[in-house]
Amino acid sequence: MTHVAAQPVTVAAASALRGRIRVPGDKSISHRALTLSALAVGESRVEGLLEGEDVLATAAAMRAMGAGIARGEDGIWRIHGVGVGGLLQPQAALDMGNSGTSTRLLMGLVASHPVTATFMGDASLSARPMKRVIDPLSMMGADFTASPGGRLPLMVRGLCPAVPIAYTLPVASAQVKSAILLAGLNTPGTTRVIEPVATRDHSERMLTGFGAALSVEQVPEGRLISITGEAELKPQSIVVPGDPSSAAFWLVAASIVPGSDVVVENVGMNPTRSGIVTALRLMGADIAELNPRIVGGEPVTDLHVRHAALTGIEVPPELAPSMIDEYPALFVAAAFAGGRTVARGAEELRVKESDRIAVMKAALEANGVSLIEHEDGLSIDGSGGDAIPGGARIASKLDHRIAMSMVVAGLHARAPVTIDDAAPVRTSFPTFFALLESLGGQVTWN
Ligand code: S3P
Repeated sequence: MTHVAAQPVTVAAASALRGRIRVPGDKSISHRALTLSALAVGESRVEGLLEGEDVLATAAAMRAMGAGIARGEDGIWRIHGVGVGGLLQPQAALDMGNSGTSTRLLMGLVASHPVTATFMGDASLSARPMKRVIDPLSMMGADFTASPGGRLPLMVRGLCPAVPIAYTLPVASAQVKSAILLAGLNTPGTTRVIEPVATRDHSERMLTGFGAALSVEQVPEGRLISITGEAELKPQSIVVPGDPSSAAFWLVAASIVPGSDVVVENVGMNPTRSGIVTALRLMGADIAELNPRIVGGEPVTDLHVRHAALTGIEVPPELAPSMIDEYPALFVAAAFAGGRTVARGAEELRVKESDRIAVMKAALEANGVSLIEHEDGLSIDGSGGDAIPGGARIASKLDHRIAMSMVVAGLHARAPVTIDDAAPVRTSFPTFFALLESLGGQVTWN
C-alpha cells in the first residue's frame, strides 16, 4: 500500500450553514453494483456511482479478475462482466486500501471460484477481524492462509464447486451475509444465511434485480435468505441513490449550528439504513422529508434540516444495525444536546475502521466534552446547545467517519478543532469539504 501523506485540517466555528447540497452515491450500493455487474454477461451501466477510494478498490480488484470497467465522459460507468464462474486468476495481490466491504465481499466471491487471491490493505484494514468471513467460507470449502489473528494480508484459495451451507450469523454484519451470498452465486445447490437481526439488505435487492434465484423469509430464528447457484446474472442499468451515511454529517451539522437551514438532496432512506434520522428526531431534530421517490429500487428523499434544540436520549439499541456507521456523528449531536445521551449495544463500533468508541471518546474529551466510555458505547453529557470548548488536535486514526464527525464538532466550538489527518475522507466522501464550503463552513489546510 502506497503511503499517503497526512492532511491536517483546522475547522473554524460557522455562523450558520445554509444551502442545498447533494450527497454522492451510496458506498454499500456502489460496491455491489460494480461487483454484480462484473459477474453478469454483457454490459451493465451504473449512474451515480460513488467515486471514493473504497469503491475504486473494488473496481480495480474486479478488473484484475477479468471484468472490463470504465467510466465514460458522461460520468456513467460501463462494466463488461465475466459471468458467474468466470473470474480470472489475479496476477498480483489485491490492494483493498481502507475498505472492509471490498475485502469481505470479494473474499466471498473468490471462495467459490477456481482462483487464488491475496488480499492486502492499509494499517487500519490490516487490524480488522476477518475470521467472521473466514469461518463460513471455510465451511464452503475455501482455504485460507491469514496473518495472525485472522487478519490481512491473507490468501484465499477458492474451491470450485464449493459446498452450500446453512449458516446463522453470530454477529449482525451485512458484509458477512453478503460474502456468503456471493459465494453461493457460484455454488451448486442452495446456500442459506440466517440473520437473527436484520442488516442492510442491498445485496438481496440487487441480486434479485440481476436475476439471481434468491428468496427471503421470516423464520423463528430471524431472516432466512436462500440463494441457489449456479446463477446467471443479466446485465442491468443501475442508478445509485445518495448515501444516508454521508447525509448524516449534514443532518447533525445543521442541527447543532444555530441559524442553519440546509436541504440535503438524494438521500437513500432504505429502512435498514435510516436509523440516524429516527434517532435525531427522538432528540428533537427538525428534519422534514421532501419529494419522496424510488431511485434504483430504493426509497430516496430530500431532507430539509433546520437548527433545533436537541435533548439527550437513550438511543434504542435496536436501531444499531440501521445506523451502525452513524454513531460517530450521533456522538457529536449528543455533545450539543441538553442532558445525557446514552448510546449502548453498539460493540461492533470497536472493529470498524478504528475503535470508534475509544477514538471518539478521546476526540470529544480533548475538546471539552464530558463522557463515560462503556464496552458497547458512550454516555455523553451535552452542552445544551452551547458551543463546546474545542481547541484540541485529534487523531482520526485512518477513519473517514472520525475525521468528518470531528469537523462537524468544530463547526460549533469556541476554539478551532484540528484533525491530524483528513485524507481518509476520500475513501467515502470526496466532495465533503467542497460541500462544507458551499454551505458557509470554513477549513484551513495546515
Ligand atoms: C457494510 C456493512 C457494515 C458497515 C459498512 C458497510 C456493507 O459493516 O459498517 O460500512 O456495505 O455491507 P458490517 O457488515 O461489519 O456491519
